[in-house]
Amino acid sequence: MKASAQAHSNIALSKYWGKRDEKLILPNNSSVSMTLDKFFTVTTVDFDSRYSIDSFVLNGEKVGEGQEWKEVQGHLDLIRSMAHTKAKAKVVSNNNFPTAAGLASSASGMAALSLAGSKAAGLNLDKKELSILSRRGSGSASRSIEGGFVEWIKGSKSDGTDSFGRQIAKETHWPELRMIVNIVKSGAKKWKSRAGMAQTIATCPYYPVWEKTAQKDSDTMKELVIKKDFSAVGKLAEFNALKMHATMMTTQPPILYWHPVTMEIMQDIITWRDEGIESYFTIDAGPQVKILCLEKNEHKLVRRLNDIKGIEKIESCKAGPDAKILEKHLF
Ligand code: DP6
Repeated sequence: MKASAQAHSNIALSKYWGKRDEKLILPNNSSVSMTLDKFFTVTTVDFDSRYSIDSFVLNGEKVGEGQEWKEVQGHLDLIRSMAHTKAKAKVVSNNNFPTAAGLASSASGMAALSLAGSKAAGLNLDKKELSILSRRGSGSASRSIEGGFVEWIKGSKSDGTDSFGRQIAKETHWPELRMIVNIVKSGAKKWKSRAGMAQTIATCPYYPVWEKTAQKDSDTMKELVIKKDFSAVGKLAEFNALKMHATMMTTQPPILYWHPVTMEIMQDIITWRDEGIESYFTIDAGPQVKILCLEKNEHKLVRRLNDIKGIEKIESCKAGPDAKILEKHLF
């Protein structure tokens, strides 16, 4: 059976960095994210007993080896075991943004694969089950099944059945909020999140501080998003991101995702804020800087960002929609 799905990427306002269970992908702390309207993955999955092997085409290129291939195959195996089938699959997937550059391509990719794959395998999963399945592919993907603002609840059970993404506010909740995504460099990053967070836990002397404080950040962020307290959301998002990067930098060997342009944008945001244009930044496992602001300052900020050399692309995003099934297939 064939099915297609679209899932949007999400950016965490309070981050996930570290697992308590690597196989089930269970986090050390909850996290809160905003789903983005402009960045998404479209995936078609076809399970058919006539296929002799699994195949995967990403952005027009065949992927037949490497980490990405292993992760997709592992996820297909998981779907097959849930659906009690042995049929092989053909998967075709397109991202409308650079892959593996710190723009959450694994989040939208695994969410789209989970939704299309489970439907194609004849499973009829609800949102919680879909989020749990997505989580098994990539932790942040658990937050890409629902749109708007999502909390990935840490959970406490060892089987992971209480660790999933749940919407805390709809896409329409905060129409004035913007996230301006600055694409600094679109090449693949040196440290993927998965290996990076494991290395941080193993060697960073400050990780225990992260572990002790990240849950509270997430709980507070959830309340602030519900209240639409822009200054407090921005301050906490920026602080939480810098705290995460402080643990990355003090990992051995160091994990440094920042480029000179990353630094330049951060410095400018702080200067412009002092001048009265209120905005805050957050950064994930890559050089891209995502800026939180309100609609009233959006155009002024984009104009100024346009003057910074080294930014390849600027996309101003609003909160985006839920993942959905598409009637049109990619093949
Ligand atoms: C820095 O979800 O990509 O973007 O679970 O190993 O697949 P895996 O990692 P991933 O990590 C995302 C880390 C982050 C922070 C966040 O999105 O919360």
